[in-house]
Amino acid sequence: MNIFETRMNELYGLVKYHASLYYDKDSPEISDAEYDALVRELNQLEKDYPQYARKDFLTHNVGGSPSNLFAKVEHSTPMLSLDNVFTPDELSAFFERIDAEGFVCEMKIDGLAVSLVYEDGIFVRGATRGNGRVGEDVTENLRLVDAVPKKLIDAPSGIVEVRGEVLMTSERFNAVNALRESRGEKLFANPRNAAAGTLRQSEKNNHVIAERGLDIFLYYLVDAEKFGVTTQAGALTWLSEHGLPVQEAYKVCNTLDDVKDFISRWQEERFTLGYATDGVVVKINNLTRWPEIKATSHAPRWAVAFKYPPEEARTRITDIIISVGRTGVLTPVAILEPVRLAGTQVSRAGLHNADEIARKDIRRGDIVRVRKAAEIIPEIIEADKDSRTGNEEIFTMPEKCPICGSLIVRLPHETAYRCPNRASCPAQLTESLKYFASRDGMNIKGIGKKLAEKLTASGKINSLSDIYTLTADDWLELDKIAMKSAENILSQLEDSKSRPFANLITALGIPEVGKNTAALITEHFGNIDALMNADEESLAEIDGVGTVIAHSVHEFFRNEGNLRMIEAFRKMGFVLENETTGKSTELEGKTFVFTGTLETMTRDEAGERVKALGGKVSGSVSSKTDYVVAGEKAGSKLRKAESLGVKILTENEFLSMTGGN
Ligand code: IVH
Repeated sequence: MNIFETRMNELYGLVKYHASLYYDKDSPEISDAEYDALVRELNQLEKDYPQYARKDFLTHNVGGSPSNLFAKVEHSTPMLSLDNVFTPDELSAFFERIDAEGFVCEMKIDGLAVSLVYEDGIFVRGATRGNGRVGEDVTENLRLVDAVPKKLIDAPSGIVEVRGEVLMTSERFNAVNALRESRGEKLFANPRNAAAGTLRQSEKNNHVIAERGLDIFLYYLVDAEKFGVTTQAGALTWLSEHGLPVQEAYKVCNTLDDVKDFISRWQEERFTLGYATDGVVVKINNLTRWPEIKATSHAPRWAVAFKYPPEEARTRITDIIISVGRTGVLTPVAILEPVRLAGTQVSRAGLHNADEIARKDIRRGDIVRVRKAAEIIPEIIEADKDSRTGNEEIFTMPEKCPICGSLIVRLPHETAYRCPNRASCPAQLTESLKYFASRDGMNIKGIGKKLAEKLTASGKINSLSDIYTLTADDWLELDKIAMKSAENILSQLEDSKSRPFANLITALGIPEVGKNTAALITEHFGNIDALMNADEESLAEIDGVGTVIAHSVHEFFRNEGNLRMIEAFRKMGFVLENETTGKSTELEGKTFVFTGTLETMTRDEAGERVKALGGKVSGSVSSKTDYVVAGEKAGSKLRKAESLGVKILTENEFLSMTGGN
């Protein structure tokens, strides 16, 4: 393999991984801009080296895929997306081609599209958009959203299907993130991710749905003509009259000039709405024209989305400081004279790394243009070099860590500068502790930002495993907390020792390894010794890992301090192997086939149970099949099992065989 092919393979893995984090898990690890850069690099390489391109990989068209957490629902008509335009001229061109007049302008809400179905006025089903054709059945979760009416006012009989956007208001978004920060949990990148992440919860966690308070606006009435509705404005009125929430900022515009006025009026005013919007959707008002206007495969042509440019402002950089992250990476941060941007007061901006500061020639004291896209942290576009006075100061990376004084290193293959003092740099230790205790890690409630800072400052901790050696007295002294809280922390620490192996690997904070990667590598290797002894090649071969992550994992387990920490965990009785492969072998060598509908679980869940006990699942019955589990309406597979004399289990028998309900 040459370097281009290697890099392309790596990029395929990275794009797939980050697309899945964004679309399916609602939890991006990188900014939209960084993601776009990966896709651009891959597209360029595909152009230059088509012989290595994967024909089936649609880099321009990665979207969500319905997850296995929910049953799948096929939409009555596809839930399409919209074409985007970015200038008034592009907008005119779009509609002149179809020769339209009479429009409705609505705000483009940055949320998550859903479809709601009512039967005789009663809410019976709700689904996400998924891939447009097949979505996820989130009916039960939508029942927990107060804003979704469970009963329509003056309902027509039969089916009513409506579509709209589930969203989280800015106020709720800030409150949710503040709470997450105090618990050391990862912040939601933007309100869209927060809304999607909240709605797409497993049953186990659905209590957060009501807590977080989602909202909804509907904007589409399916088969409107059935209800005598012939315009989009009429549809919005119909929705609202039947009790379905409709956004307030919409307007009927007769001409394209009116549309352009609406767009410019709301460019600033939209920040007073209290929820995130990223453009205006312009629709032809006359619904009877919609069917005659041909759609493309992914978007209708009776509507278009005008996207606002990211918001910009001008301000001055008063200082450039260095923040030291969990993995020791030094990130320069610009401190700004506070300025209003996209509806909020901004006083900091990320500068990414020293190369970028040098490339953009950004100095302390500069007047700069700052921009905020969908992410929370604004970025600096450029410095206004004409307005320099000569007192601006060129930034250079410090030679020593501003926190612990260690000499800074820069590895040859990295853009980042790092403080190498992983084991005891207070900044890294604090961040590592927060991460260690976070929900995806060891899930130790009680240890948030404040306590992590105090732990580090106390000097009692040199390594993550040291928190398990503290006594109740130590905790009392540390935080001046009540005896009861100290005991509570001790019992939480004790509980945390039995977290699954993958959580511990996540909690270690190995650079580049988040919870998804941790799941991949623990599943692959099964136990800590196999993982520690793995060479870089075998790590890199795991689907979704690649050379960068493989290198980082390998390095981590070559460090003395880290190895001592693992040994400490081993002595304290932590779980250092997969429960599935390591312990349970009851069903080893047994093959199961499921047929028909199970009552208490989906087939996927049943399959997970079998695999957790060391067994295998197959899709077809043969003489090698050991058990066929027959649910409701079992058909040909059941008959085949009978004819082959394969043992047949009822759902109940299966449940008791695999450890009950
Ligand atoms: S109408 C056939 N109206 O934007 C699609 N969509 O980028 C009809 N969206 O998938 C959609 N606000 O999730 C429509 N007022 C609005 C909207 C809106 C947000 C979303 C929707 C759509 C996406 C397209």
